[in-house]
Amino acid sequence: MKFPPWTSVSEAACLLKDGEVVAIPTETVYGLAGNAFDPKALAKIFAAKERPTFDPLIVHIADIAQLTDIAKDIPDSAYKLAEAYWPGPMTIILPKKDCIPDLCTSALPSVAVRFPSHPVAQAIIKEAGIPLAAPSANLFKHVSPTTAEHVAAQLADRIAGIVDGGPCSVGVESSIISLTGEKPTVLRPGAITPEMFAKVLGDVAIKESTSKPGQPMLAPGQCDTHYRPQVPLYYGEVPAGYTLPEHTVRIAFGLQAGPIPATVNLSATGDMVEATSKLYAFMHDLDKPDYDLILVDPIPNVGVGMALNDRLKRASIKKL
Ligand code: TXA
Ligand code: MG
Repeated sequence: MKFPPWTSVSEAACLLKDGEVVAIPTETVYGLAGNAFDPKALAKIFAAKERPTFDPLIVHIADIAQLTDIAKDIPDSAYKLAEAYWPGPMTIILPKKDCIPDLCTSALPSVAVRFPSHPVAQAIIKEAGIPLAAPSANLFKHVSPTTAEHVAAQLADRIAGIVDGGPCSVGVESSIISLTGEKPTVLRPGAITPEMFAKVLGDVAIKESTSKPGQPMLAPGQCDTHYRPQVPLYYGEVPAGYTLPEHTVRIAFGLQAGPIPATVNLSATGDMVEATSKLYAFMHDLDKPDYDLILVDPIPNVGVGMALNDRLKRASIKKL
């Protein structure tokens, strides 16, 4: 086989129907897709990513009508959200149908469902004719890929194909909202902000996302140490008098002053959406042995900035 295994939409659809796993573009991050109904394909996803099976997968559809193939007892609130924000960067947790294997949901009675807006993702799901389970196409705990090259660097020799759909426009993983409890609850912040959920549903709860060591994870996969580059990344104020290592680089946001000049800027104008689309690409680019430390400027914890703060806090070393 030649590496990286670049594939077309039709080749990808054939491979997926055959039980293989293929990386596909979505508007959030690249996903590592497999047939959501096929436990062997799901096992290949976990193996390629070295992901523990207690971390459940998101199932991707290309039509709201497909929701009933996967989920049951679907509340009206799910259809209201679907109408407002699908296709797009939103995942809804719903009670699962028996046809979804336990491996997909880590034996939870619920399933995560998303209808992505990326036209290539939609074309692949439609041509394959099956819902596709797809976690982000990176090794477990590493930074999610926002280009096909990022996928190739981590997974090229472990998977059957990669479809190149260009850089992801959103740049962070989907917002996840659970509709299985008494109150709709945001489990992971993303481009669909709590305010946007509240606009459709009224009041929503936000789950505090830090995991408690030694206890079962209520929303699996929300580990404290996700999204870490190999080069230590620090998100926080540099203590006064601290001497930065010689090869420190800085990811700036806006035009605020920092301890060293900006190496790259997420958005010179302080635009949060632009910053979101660039963050992971900068984290991949600066994750080189030439550097000793990556510093990131503070980003306001509002709107989509909540997603950036969530990911950066997990990516950050706790102390300089
Ligand atoms: O934007 C995205 O969501 C991307 C693209 C590829 O669609 N996918 C993604 O998948 O970020 P992943 O595997 O990296 O994150 C899935 C997370 C799990 O770690 C878990 O926190 C949550 O979704 N999840 C999945 N099923 C769940 C369930 N039944 N109940 C609660 N949380 C669930
Ligand atoms: Mg992931």
